[in-house]
Amino acid sequence: MKTNLSFSAPAEVETDCLVAVVLDRGEKDKTDVYLAIEDKSVQQAAADVLGTEATGKMLETTLLHKPANLKAKRLLLIGGGKTKKFSSLELRKLAGAAVRGLKSRSLRSFAMITPDGPNAGDAVTAIVEGAFVGNFDSNTYQSDRKDQQIDNLTIIARGDQKNLQNELEEARIIGESQNFVRQLVNEPSNRMTPTILADHAKKMSEEVGLKCEVYGADKIKELKMGAFWGVAQGSDEPPALIVMRYEPAGAPEKPVLGLVGKGITFDTGGISIKPADGMEKMKYDMAGGATMIGVMRAIALLKPKVKVIGIVCATENMPSGKAQKPGDIQTAMSGKTIEIINTDAEGRLVLADGLTYARQLGCTHLVDAATLTGAVVVALGYANAGIFANDDAIYERFSKAMSKAGEKMWRLPLDDEYKEQIRSNIADIMNTGGRWGGAITAAMFLKEFAEDTPWIHLDIAGTAWMEDQKAWIAKGPSGIAVRSLIEFARDFANHR
Ligand code: BES
Ligand code: MN
Ligand code: ZN
Repeated sequence: MKTNLSFSAPAEVETDCLVAVVLDRGEKDKTDVYLAIEDKSVQQAAADVLGTEATGKMLETTLLHKPANLKAKRLLLIGGGKTKKFSSLELRKLAGAAVRGLKSRSLRSFAMITPDGPNAGDAVTAIVEGAFVGNFDSNTYQSDRKDQQIDNLTIIARGDQKNLQNELEEARIIGESQNFVRQLVNEPSNRMTPTILADHAKKMSEEVGLKCEVYGADKIKELKMGAFWGVAQGSDEPPALIVMRYEPAGAPEKPVLGLVGKGITFDTGGISIKPADGMEKMKYDMAGGATMIGVMRAIALLKPKVKVIGIVCATENMPSGKAQKPGDIQTAMSGKTIEIINTDAEGRLVLADGLTYARQLGCTHLVDAATLTGAVVVALGYANAGIFANDDAIYERFSKAMSKAGEKMWRLPLDDEYKEQIRSNIADIMNTGGRWGGAITAAMFLKEFAEDTPWIHLDIAGTAWMEDQKAWIAKGPSGIAVRSLIEFARDFANHR
């Protein structure tokens, strides 16, 4: 999708469709509907329906053809809800909904007016990012797929041209990177093996100028990654340890941000096999890994002055004659011994060694992302990802990045009490902690491997895949956490 800015009066913009936001200033039962742009021509064109058909209700759309006094062929009014609640979070959804609504009507381009309210830069960012989110569809392999896409998006803005152009370009990089992640996550496991995932990381790295190394079983064993190998040993597909490095000239030696992703390209559960019902979804168990690949892409293009290392531990989790079994003891790279209680708790095993390796490579701050537990879905549902941190300062910084990115995550605790649940009788630690607080005990397990390095863990099991389609986003991979992680990395460059 091409994106460009226009500083013309909306009435003068020649486009297939002009999109304007309608808000409701009213309180409680009273409504007071108005256009979120002070412009006489658009106002006149919308006058007949404002307050009647167009009520300003969030995501409500009213399409007018051949609007009087406008050069645009159509005028789409889209409701943004109550003025008080309207922010760039809502604006992202409106842009996504405009894209989805218009492309399904076979339109290929439109122009959206930045509404008065959020500052102009935030508005441009929200519209571009939201539009990219809306433009993605997951029906890749349908023979009769109409590749309906918006090809051209114009944003009608007011403000400092150079500054807004800059915001637009950055938002485009972020939007494209998020969709790149979603493409990777959408692929089924026969078309997205660890080797193929690594090939995508290599190709992307070449394109944007990152160093990328991919290691196989030999190196994994040589590094003594017994936890990672314990999972990988059960599969005929070779595992891949993907290491991407961003080391810009002029960046300080420290900090070094480490991004570690769970790259299980298919999770059968292993010997502790999962039930058949819904198992097909476990192709998205590499979403955390794909996220880190996409985030590295954006970082390479946005060029913050800070070192970042991206690590993806990619393997299948399979039952086989070579697979690890419950009761087995694995020695992790850090030297800790792990009693395997359930081979379906494999994510924490590959991440344990990923985190240790990141520390060995000199990372001073760590973030991991993983579709780690069903329990986080029980705790938080589909609206919020789970976020954990062993350090309040790093959490505060991540939280800011999260709001800037318009993503929702809810912090869960890591109190010492929970450690009881993963104590083993025979080894240092067990890989499961029983029924209660499953997202937390999984995070407690990881905490043992982050040790004293400031660390954040994102459990995206409930949020990486949209179970239903929404007006602003297709069913399928969501690309959650991509934008927050990019903002977080950029913040690192300004923060010493
Ligand atoms: N990949 C799953 C977690 C998952 C569940 C992701 C649902 C997406 C949707 C993970 O490897 C897993 O199987 N976790 C187990 C852990 C248990 C055995 C302690 C779980 O959540 O049931
Ligand atoms: Mn599992
Ligand atoms: Zn898994």
